[in-house]
Amino acid sequence: MDFIYALAPMENFTNNTFRFLAHQYGADITFTEMVMFDALAKNNKTSLERIKITNNVPTEIQIAGLNENHLKKFLENFTPEPGFLGFCLNIGCPSQKLIDHGMGCAMIKRVSKVEKLVQIIKAKGFRASVKLRLGANRHEFEKKVYINLIKGVNADYFIVHARHGKQFFDETSNWSTFKKCCKTGKTIIANGDIKTLHDVELLKEFGVSGVMIGRAAIRNPAIFDKLKGEKETKMAKIKNEYLEISKNDKNKIYRKNVLKFLKK
Ligand SMILES: Cc1cc2nc3c(=O)[nH]c(=O)nc-3n(C[C@H](O)[C@H](O)[C@H](O)COP(=O)(O)O)c2cc1C
Repeated sequence: MDFIYALAPMENFTNNTFRFLAHQYGADITFTEMVMFDALAKNNKTSLERIKITNNVPTEIQIAGLNENHLKKFLENFTPEPGFLGFCLNIGCPSQKLIDHGMGCAMIKRVSKVEKLVQIIKAKGFRASVKLRLGANRHEFEKKVYINLIKGVNADYFIVHARHGKQFFDETSNWSTFKKCCKTGKTIIANGDIKTLHDVELLKEFGVSGVMIGRAAIRNPAIFDKLKGEKETKMAKIKNEYLEISKNDKNKIYRKNVLKFLKK
């Protein structure tokens, strides 16, 4: 497998327009923002809109939830669009509301539940990845619950955001954990604070199969080409392209958010 450069899912930023732009500038794979599969099973319009793929952009659809029957119901009616690569199960969301319901980060120690959801996806013939943090809190991080999860779940690969659920972005992510994750023999994509070629080279030495980039890609969607050693594109050109392709976006929040961060 070639080393993967992935655009991270980011709510209210990475709609299909932004994913298209990042893919044009080297992102091999992109992810939709998290949606609850309960809502998809009920044909919720906003949720269905979030998982739409246009222009053949290579995309995994990110889902979250607990109820196996709702997942099955959604998958029964699901028809993949061109560009669709598989599903990514989010078990890393730090939102307290989700944790209180046994979801998000709380699922990192629910190994058999996660394995069941993954197998439901795979039984339909779809690829299944899992995106996780290092546990819901420091205690779980120290107990290495993330290693149990990775060992016990037969997903196609794992995206590890190297923070636990109580860590905010001002705390540096803990890259040494990637080595431990890779030792399980599973396929690991690294995520958290990745910005430079030096970062990528170091992470390759740790044994990861790819990198996922979030905030740095909002500031510069061409970061993927840059890390691949391709010729750099001027930010003014990228910004103009984004202004053009996003002008017909129905929901204006994405454009508003992206333009706040896109470098001049
Ligand atoms: C505004 C924002 C929204 C996010 N939304 C999601 C999401 O919907 N699903 C998800 O798995 N992670 C989400 N994340 C986390 C990112 O995917 C990523 O794990 C995190 O930003 C760390 O990567 P980075 O340091 O490259 O930004 C979000 C992050 C930000 C900043």
